[in-house]
Amino acid sequence: MNHSSSFKPIIIALDGTSSTGKSSIARRLAARLGYTYIDTGAMYRAVTLLAIRGGAFAADGSIDEPLLARLLDEAEISFHLNTETDHSDIYLNQENVEREIRTMEVSSRVSPIAAIPFVRKALVAQQQAMGRHKAIVMDGRDIGTTVFPDAEMKVFMTASPEVRAQRRYDELQAKGMPATYEEVLRNVQERDYIDSHRATSPLRPADDAVILDNSHMTMDEEMDFLLDLYRQRACQDA
Ligand code: DC
Repeated sequence: MNHSSSFKPIIIALDGTSSTGKSSIARRLAARLGYTYIDTGAMYRAVTLLAIRGGAFAADGSIDEPLLARLLDEAEISFHLNTETDHSDIYLNQENVEREIRTMEVSSRVSPIAAIPFVRKALVAQQQAMGRHKAIVMDGRDIGTTVFPDAEMKVFMTASPEVRAQRRYDELQAKGMPATYEEVLRNVQERDYIDSHRATSPLRPADDAVILDNSHMTMDEEMDFLLDLYRQRACQDA
């Protein structure tokens, strides 16, 4: 798409509940527009992996926050383009952890990590730096509310918990990762609860976000919806 003459580069914030297909559509949208795509959920997952590996989780699930703060201080989280898949993979201290961050173990421990204020502060600062030059599609939970409250385009995506659990279950099956549908549904519901009830940046739509319920939409329909919105928001004369 030619956005050089009549379209200005903008920030596209895609927020919403887990497993709404945000990442897939955000990636497609970014590729179509020639924008950079950032999956901020992957960053919270990488910190969770760091905490697991560094022994910051006690047996009862509680988190040694001073230890995690030290680990995070010394850690480097970055994205690098994988030329085979054309996907930006996430790296933790120079190691590609794209697969390790998608396990059920990480999924079931990420919400308490994402609720820790110093973790959010560090990752939000990194995300804001990534959006300095605009022309970015960022997906997450607080992009339109906290990371880029002035984003030109904000979309809040959602779908029923059952539809979302089925999608994540199918994804895990396709990757050969073990899980039952019931387990995945429980995890989706638990994460919804924790993500929307935490004190720092709880999951909620920004006042000026457009709500997109994709329970019964195809990806092509979603793309048409997002491209229409993009044209309105990025139009120079708007
Ligand atoms: O999108 P995801 O399922 O990969 O996100 C993993 C977790 O990270 C999810 O429980 C919510 C949290 N998260 C967040 O708190 N803020 C973000 N901007 C992105 C994700």
